[in-house]
Amino acid sequence: MNPLADKSSLKGAVRSSNTSELQDMTKIEINPGVAPFPKPIILVGAMVEGNPNFITIAWFNRMNGTPNIWGLAMGKKHYTLEGIRKNGKFSVNFPSVELVEKTDFCGIYSGREVDKSNTFEVFYGELGDVPMIKECPVTAECSVHEIIELPKTALVLGEVRHAYSEERFMTDGALDARKTRPFVFIRPGDQYWSLGDAIGDAWSIGKVHKE
Ligand SMILES: Cc1cc2nc3c(=O)[nH]c(=O)nc-3n(C[C@H](O)[C@H](O)[C@H](O)COP(=O)(O)O)c2cc1C
Repeated sequence: MNPLADKSSLKGAVRSSNTSELQDMTKIEINPGVAPFPKPIILVGAMVEGNPNFITIAWFNRMNGTPNIWGLAMGKKHYTLEGIRKNGKFSVNFPSVELVEKTDFCGIYSGREVDKSNTFEVFYGELGDVPMIKECPVTAECSVHEIIELPKTALVLGEVRHAYSEERFMTDGALDARKTRPFVFIRPGDQYWSLGDAIGDAWSIGKVHKE
């Protein structure tokens, strides 16, 4: 049964807290093609045809804790995917707000037509031929765990084998988002947004609701 069929249960009104205006709280159905948002933006790197190549990715998440498996959805025709399939490894690089233009650049042009290998200063870690971006505060080398073929994308699952940062991005031994300054992508609007202030401690502020 379609839970939206009985629209009477979706109606309601509330008086706004700071005005006397009555706000309409009736739920309306929206496009089911809606994307989850906000999404952190990452740059994924791989060697393709002997050169480092980087792709901008918004469809990314952690899929398993131990082992630490991250998943990203990649269009099947992307040049970077060729390198990932061939080498069985790739990098995940978290850009800071200063890198927003270069990040967008890697999401506009394919390595098939444009050489993106000189966009960043590249370094290599324990896995060898996995290009990582020196300017990114946090980077990781992953080995492919599995690639799941979906209708339009390849869901690339990679196990994080090594991760890298710098002292200047840490506070008391832990990565500090105030210092790494990540940004997110929001659709609708297709814009990059920086983060605001912390609004509460996780696994803590919710306890006030325990009876
Ligand atoms: C903000 C943004 C987010 C993107 N997210 C994804 C994504 O999650 N998955 C994907 O396959 N392509 C995504 N793209 C598109 C690729 O980054 C783009 O097609 C890129 O040029 C492919 O590069 P390549 O062919 O060199 O691998 C995104 C592009 C932008 C600008």
